[in-house]
Amino acid sequence: MKVMEVKDYQEMSHAAGKYIIDKVKAKPNITLGLATGGTPEGTYEYIINDYQENGTSYRKVTTFNLDEYIGLKESHPNGYRHYMDTKLFNHININISNTNIPNGDIQHFKEECLRYEQLIEAHGGIDLQILGIGSNGHIGFNEPGTKFGTKTHVVKLTDATREANARYFQKFEEVPEYAVTMGISSIMQSKEILLLVSGETKIEAMKQLLGGEVSESFPASILQLHPNVTIIADEKSLIEAKVPS
Ligand code: F6R
Repeated sequence: MKVMEVKDYQEMSHAAGKYIIDKVKAKPNITLGLATGGTPEGTYEYIINDYQENGTSYRKVTTFNLDEYIGLKESHPNGYRHYMDTKLFNHININISNTNIPNGDIQHFKEECLRYEQLIEAHGGIDLQILGIGSNGHIGFNEPGTKFGTKTHVVKLTDATREANARYFQKFEEVPEYAVTMGISSIMQSKEILLLVSGETKIEAMKQLLGGEVSESFPASILQLHPNVTIIADEKSLIEAKVPS
């Protein structure tokens, strides 16, 4: 894992935005894996600004999002389709039909998980997967204890994750209890991974990611075994971690 240490959230967002834009320019029909949450918001803003100023084209890009809550309507303001449309897709020239997010508003989840996994495969896999990390080490919505071999599946969210995400809802009880997420194995099959980390709520997670053992009790630890991972992390998040030289 390569670690790029940056000053703060803004520097992380700029470095990540530039990283992604360079990859899109090098391979205009790239397949990107995308994340939601607070961490990549600044990165998406950077990409939009670049699109407005320099016209980088996303016409041939395909995207697959990591996860989606179960039980929210597609148009729900806290659903990840709404997040992606408003924070990125509506502001660049991507073809919306090339943007994929698991459907959390259906009855037959087994079929949906299989459909999603097969769709990723049919596109030849993900070239560059963007990840954030939960303070408990989750990636996607793969909570501690998730088997490393999992493909896209349904998860019960931990209270810690629901509390962390309650900031987007009126109250904790409104945060869905279940989600569909790409599995650890789906994520590990990406050709390249870019993990973005910022802020003091991630100090423990970074300490464990960079210094701890590979264990299903800390899902992100599996990234140590991936051959092409870049971490862009800010000073605050790295304060207690030993950054490999
Ligand atoms: C989001 C996702 C999650 C987040 C993680 C960190 O699609 O898969 O793993 O990346 O919960 O969230 P933030 O960025 O809000 O700290």
